[in-house]
Amino acid sequence: PKVTFIQPDGMETVLETDTGTSVMRTAVSRGVPGIVAECGGSAMCATCHVYVEEPYLDGLPEISDVEDEMLDCTSSERCPNSRLSCQLKVASDIAVRLPETQV
Ligand code: FES
Repeated sequence: PKVTFIQPDGMETVLETDTGTSVMRTAVSRGVPGIVAECGGSAMCATCHVYVEEPYLDGLPEISDVEDEMLDCTSSERCPNSRLSCQLKVASDIAVRLPETQV
């Protein structure tokens, strides 16, 4: 599946990734800027915050209690489409917008 990363300035990067790989891992391993992922994917840092684009909100895994708590600690404003990208395993095409800042 394809993951589209949209930077705050509108620049897009589209990457092909393996099913089951997280959106965070896809960005970090391929050098996409804008995701810090300090905790390495344990839902403990909130520096992998992304905004999921509207058409892809359906069918996402539910937000766990841990993710929900961490989403209250993001640097950029939490929105209804906010998620921790380390908790989003890619199942089909998805597009996410990067926040202005992660720290
Ligand atoms: Fe730390 Fe996602 S990488 S919460």
